[in-house]
Amino acid sequence: SEVYRAGLSGDRPKVPVDAAALELAAKKGLTAEAFAYLAGGAGAESTMAANRAAFDRWRVWPRVLRDVSKRDLSIELLGRRRPTPFVLSPIGVAEMAHPEADVAVGRAAATLGVPYVLSNQASRPMEEVAAQMRDASFWFQLYWSRSDELNASFVRRAEAIGCEAIVVTLDTSLLGWRTRDLDVAYLPFTRGLGIAQYTSDPVFADLVRDRVAAGGTAGPKSRVTPTLLASALSIARSGSHTMLVEGGVAEALRSPLPRAAVETFLDVFSDPSLTWDDLASLREWTTLPILLKGVMHPADAARALDLGIDGLVVSNHGGRQIDGAVATLDALPGVLERVGGRIPVILDSGVRGGADAFKALALGATAVGIGRPYAYGLAVAGAEGVREVVRNHIAELDLTMGLAGRTSIDAIGRDALAPAQA
Ligand code: FNR
Repeated sequence: SEVYRAGLSGDRPKVPVDAAALELAAKKGLTAEAFAYLAGGAGAESTMAANRAAFDRWRVWPRVLRDVSKRDLSIELLGRRRPTPFVLSPIGVAEMAHPEADVAVGRAAATLGVPYVLSNQASRPMEEVAAQMRDASFWFQLYWSRSDELNASFVRRAEAIGCEAIVVTLDTSLLGWRTRDLDVAYLPFTRGLGIAQYTSDPVFADLVRDRVAAGGTAGPKSRVTPTLLASALSIARSGSHTMLVEGGVAEALRSPLPRAAVETFLDVFSDPSLTWDDLASLREWTTLPILLKGVMHPADAARALDLGIDGLVVSNHGGRQIDGAVATLDALPGVLERVGGRIPVILDSGVRGGADAFKALALGATAVGIGRPYAYGLAVAGAEGVREVVRNHIAELDLTMGLAGRTSIDAIGRDALAPAQA
């Protein structure tokens, strides 16, 4: 009703409300490469399609005449009452969508009380985003690096800025076969994008210095600091924008320090040899709640429980990792059954509106993660675009609840859905 009321005075929403129109609007304003990075999935993108199809296999089964004049969307999650059951999933290299990147997303999330999961691959250091978010909730997403010192340092920094939880993403031990990115020979990292979390880190600066000193790259032999690293990289990148047009992509990163930073990043980014045993060390580094993102199998959910993990995110990375993977909504019931209500289970991948969220909640998810839609909102209208997209999700969920005869999230049970007839 706020949108309609604003319409009376001639105000229109800044971003399209329809999910497909939103994606198209983002596409129009972005370079082909940037859109390929945001929108693309693995292989033939059949996992992306499966994520959507799984939502279509459930229909909402409404009840009527139940006084739905007051509705409460709040949930309890990680020891706090939250105004809505949404979280913003981590999206790396957000500068591909908008120059304000993570900072704009953080500002939008804070105004709505929606927890924002800061990406390990952020375009802005976590400290900068946290400063924008003040008392609002944010969590930090970790890609487990080959360097334990670096992992511990990221976690220490997250704790120091008031982060509420650590989310370890487990589905990206290797980067997926992303056809659209491959077609444009595009790997953001090799251009020094999305590594702000690293170049602002003292341990990472040491690693770069060691690499330079070992003679791998010519350059300064000492005094590599996070500030020096970050500024060297940003100088190189500001040059790269013109060179990018001329096709000399790597040229700007030839200067020794940025190049050593990018090479070091590529060395340490992830650790494909990681096992359940390694996760135990994370408990020693932090007292914060630990969530595992990318858990799809009930047996893995059981291992997580054994380890005392505090929450799971059922996710297939928006279909960006394995082509042909199980849809998240299909994986959800098995995971929930094994978890038995002991820890919260968040679902993401394929959520395109509040009615989708309703279905995930009805099947038992504790909360729902928004991914690409907010990145598209960011691309179209910066922080305000993110805010509108998230508000649209909240508003559609609110209406779906009311129209289905449910007035609280707890009241949305399995009986609120019917399987679609073939
Ligand atoms: C992601 N995702 C992601 N996940 C993560 O743990 N760390 C990250 O840095 C990123 N980066 C990232 C970039 C882009 C462009 C996308 C689209 C996704 C996955 C993300 O957190 C989430 O799981 C998916 O976006 C959910 O799928 P949908 O809703 O986007 O289809």
